[in-house]
Amino acid sequence: MRFDDTVALITGGASGIGRGIAQAFAEHGARVCIADLDGPRAAEAADALRRGGAEAFAITTDVADAAAVAAAIDAVEARWGALHHLVNCAGIDRPMPLDDLDEATYDRVIAVDQKSVYLTTRRALPLLECSGGTVVNVSSVMAWYTAPGYVAYTAAKAGVIGMTRALAVELGPRGVRVNAICPGFIDTPIWQRNLDAMTPEAAAAFAERVRALHPIGRRGTPADIADATLFLCSGAARFITGTHLIVDGGVSLRLTAP
Ligand SMILES: NC(=O)c1ccc[n+]([C@@H]2O[C@H](COP(=O)([O-])OP(=O)(O)OC[C@H]3O[C@@H](n4cnc5c(N)ncnc54)[C@H](O)[C@@H]3O)[C@@H](O)[C@H]2O)c1
Repeated sequence: MRFDDTVALITGGASGIGRGIAQAFAEHGARVCIADLDGPRAAEAADALRRGGAEAFAITTDVADAAAVAAAIDAVEARWGALHHLVNCAGIDRPMPLDDLDEATYDRVIAVDQKSVYLTTRRALPLLECSGGTVVNVSSVMAWYTAPGYVAYTAAKAGVIGMTRALAVELGPRGVRVNAICPGFIDTPIWQRNLDAMTPEAAAAFAERVRALHPIGRRGTPADIADATLFLCSGAARFITGTHLIVDGGVSLRLTAP
């Protein structure tokens, strides 16, 4: 899979899965824009791509803010005049019991994880239509199988699956494919933050319990999700649109613990 002479915009590309996706696009020849709320980290990630020989830049962006999204896409157009691949990866989880889930937190999770997909895709559409582009939305296995404390996150990620299908139907005739990826347990700062909230012993026991649940025998890495994302963006997936690809080492298949 080569992406030479293409442009990819990765939201949330400063960290974790998004950073892995940005790196994979760069390694496969694409020019990469990282749009992330964490400006310094995004700049550092883009620097690392440039040191590896890629063309890349970062722009500080809140994906829940329409004006910021417009500025990011305008910056891509100004620099490279095109956009071929939009990956909506920025996300937050904010797990908490329903009793503590205040309206502001609920609204923020929905805005960052779900509304952002509408904002970026709508704004990028003229460029994507021009290039016969692709969109990949990073949802979660939690769109399907969830846990206590994830009311807002599950609602947002399930909404992303629905939006992916609706976008695929509407944009297919305009030459744009739209798919979703559902990662399982991936070793990133989100996962680490959940472990950090536990005692070291509890965290080690939880990490091992989760690892053992995976038929493949390990948790995932950002590179596992990046490879699946590049596949969906590539010509090899030219007849695939509106689908969701579960990339979770089989963890969501289990009905019983091993
Ligand atoms: N790690 C997992 O196990 C896992 C599993 C399923 C789905 N996901 C999804 O994958 C995506 C990436 O998660 P991750 O684990 O790499 O997390 P992460 O915290 O390492 O990275 C998320 C990135 O999104 C950025 N971000 C947050 N809010 C933003 C906003 N409003 N605007 C722009 N950027 C923003 C952060 O600054 C960060 O760089 C998320 O959508 C997450 O829900 C992760």
